[in-house]
Amino acid sequence: MGTRLLPATKSQPKEMLPVARKPIVQYVAEELVASGVEDILFVTGRGKSSIENHFDADPELSNQLAAAKKADLLREVDFADMPCNFFYTRQRVQRGLGDAIRCGENFAGEQPFVVALGDSILGLHAQSQTLRRMIELFESKRASCVVAVEEVPEHEVSQYGIIQPVDADGDVYRVSNLVEKPAAGSAPSRLAIAGRYVFAPIIFDMIRNVEPDRRGEIQLTNAMRLLCEEGRRVFAVKLAPGEKRYDIGNFPSYYETFAEFALADPDHGPAFRARLLELLGVK
Ligand code: G1P
Repeated sequence: MGTRLLPATKSQPKEMLPVARKPIVQYVAEELVASGVEDILFVTGRGKSSIENHFDADPELSNQLAAAKKADLLREVDFADMPCNFFYTRQRVQRGLGDAIRCGENFAGEQPFVVALGDSILGLHAQSQTLRRMIELFESKRASCVVAVEEVPEHEVSQYGIIQPVDADGDVYRVSNLVEKPAAGSAPSRLAIAGRYVFAPIIFDMIRNVEPDRRGEIQLTNAMRLLCEEGRRVFAVKLAPGEKRYDIGNFPSYYETFAEFALADPDHGPAFRARLLELLGVK
């Protein structure tokens, strides 16, 4: 519900908050397309229709930009040429991430599919190889699930789903168990689920078998744990050292993300940097 970002998210979804020039969800869509995904289903909910509007045509705006000969800007707001199809569905009641994924069951059918959480950007300007590596690993290992992980400090493990790795091959791990938001001191590792997943359709059966937690939510992490318990092949890929996950779910990391992306803006970054140094009193 984006309560950690109120009042900014009172009447707009957090996925539509801007990070420098674009809303977060656009970076996520661009990352998916760059990773070879051709059909994107947005699982939204009440109050999130601005996501659909963002990717829709806006003839008035397009005409105005064309008349003003702003071809560059026109290209940036016209998603018709994006090599993917957009689909939308709504989760009627917020019953957790596992339940949201179940809204895509008919869409996925018998095919493996990717899940990307809309409040995280992988890599500066979504320049990320992680999903491509995950898809390749999923295929080569004939896996049931591949998840992206990042190493987090001990005091942050309770904010994430944490994997229990059994075997490591470089930055690829075989996973034997997962725990959603473990208490500090009881986590099986410091490798946290980073909001990107590849699943075989069997995950839908697992989701159906997950009991709601004490808040009534169906946790995706618990469905993945059932995959492990059945002895299925679950792997984790660690983000490459230069590849950061930008989490927009709370103000401190939202501020940091915005500043980092704005500093990297080819047109306005240098002036922003100079102004920041001035504000900080650094010459
Ligand atoms: C969700 C997942 C968690 C994952 C996190 C990544 O938690 O349940 O396993 O580590 O996203 O951002 P949420 O942030 O929705 O509480």
